Amino acid sequence: MGRPRILILGGTSEARLLAEALAARGNGDVLLSLAGRTEKPAAQPVPVRSGGFGGAAALADFLKAGGYDLLIDATHPFAERISANAAFAAETTGIAAIALRRSEWQRLPGDRWRGVRSIPAAIAALGPSPRRVLLATGRQGAHHAEAAPQHFYLIRSVDPVEPPLALVDVDYVIDRGPFPLEGECALLKQHRINAIIAKNSGGAATYAKIEAARLLGIEVMMVARAPASTVKTVDTVEAALAAIDHLFPPAMKRGV
Ligand SMILES: NC(=O)c1ccc[n+]([C@@H]2O[C@H](COP(=O)([O-])OP(=O)(O)OC[C@H]3O[C@@H](n4cnc5c(N)ncnc54)[C@H](OP(=O)(O)O)[C@@H]3O)[C@@H](O)[C@H]2O)c1
Repeated sequence: MGRPRILILGGTSEARLLAEALAARGNGDVLLSLAGRTEKPAAQPVPVRSGGFGGAAALADFLKAGGYDLLIDATHPFAERISANAAFAAETTGIAAIALRRSEWQRLPGDRWRGVRSIPAAIAALGPSPRRVLLATGRQGAHHAEAAPQHFYLIRSVDPVEPPLALVDVDYVIDRGPFPLEGECALLKQHRINAIIAKNSGGAATYAKIEAARLLGIEVMMVARAPASTVKTVDTVEAALAAIDHLFPPAMKRGV
């Protein structure tokens, strides 16, 4: 067998780092797939395709038509539909698959977390009295804030929330991680935030808000993940590389 053909479903820093490592090793033909949601996506180290496939069966067709040997689902832990599609496509085609999922954040002493199942549940958990909320879950789902208009919301997202929310007391920050701790503390103090709504995304890039909340005694409504993928799952780029080496031993990858 020659160089394995690898499709990485991305949209995360881990996907970019894995693609970079594979490109540096030069022992696989890698295509990185992005959903195409972000207006200015980060530069990527390998060829990229962009946009949905048209569902799970279409993803399976794409894998077969492209002669892929390996599917890597390195999408965000909250990108549930594409991960379900990836598991289905791997199963129906018989193509090897690996899910790369960073570990969840764990509660540490001093954390004031309330575990919730969804963004609407997080909004409800804020309670009836007006609060000052950092909604740090991105633009998708931000409209749920309209159900509790008594609160002030600071909404942070990579791209603007369109259309703007039907709320009187709302402000927007357009920004992309990684976010340093100092900046997070300053933002929380500047807007007198007393509640944060966050997804338990894991990873370092967006963890500073959790640390800042701990330091400032701010309550966090922590949205839990859906159950893990059914395909073989690893939690670091290094573990993904090791799993790839196991499937395609390096000598084979060089076509030797
Ligand atoms: N959800 C988050 O909190 C979050 C945070 C940071 C980054 N992201 C990234 O943003 C992208 C979209 O997230 P989402 O939560 O909207 O996903 P989703 O709800 O799981 O997926 C919705 C649809 O978008 C398409 N899609 C998603 N990821 C794709 C990819 N990497 N390549 C090609 N098509 C893709 C698929 O369309 P078809 O069915 O037509 O194939 C999928 O059915 C993902 O790539 C994810 O890694 C998500």
